Amino acid sequence: MSTVDWDALRAEAVRVAQSAYAPYSKLLVGVAGLTDDGRLVQGCNVENASYGLGLCAECTMVGQLRLSGGGRLVAVACRSGDGDLLMPCGRCRQLLYEHGGPECLVDTPSGILPMSSVLPDAFGPEDLPA
Ligand code: THU
Repeated sequence: MSTVDWDALRAEAVRVAQSAYAPYSKLLVGVAGLTDDGRLVQGCNVENASYGLGLCAECTMVGQLRLSGGGRLVAVACRSGDGDLLMPCGRCRQLLYEHGGPECLVDTPSGILPMSSVLPDAFGPEDLPA
């Protein structure tokens, strides 16, 4: 999408990574997303002493998406607190697909790509019975 300010989205991801709670992995993760009605939503990872219960940054961003009015994600950038580009993990690709669909754009090491490339042949809501 030509109207996405990717540098601003990336900078916001780095900024919100500073709010991460990551005492175990020490990897601060921030993510910023643009919604179809022009809102900015953010997330950071929130770990837990019971390691498997940790929340990825994308999880908390999707919570913010819902809490701030819902809608669809159209662009997403994920960064470490040091500014390194991070790709969403497999589970989070599924989360982004649910809330952005195949056309949602993602900042990747290979450039800006749609979710249809980031999660090819995805399982999604359309695969469930009506
Ligand atoms: N993490 C995310 O927040 N998002 C991802 O897509 C990949 C991994 C977090 C989870 C954990 O807190 C830390 O990065 C190290 O795995």
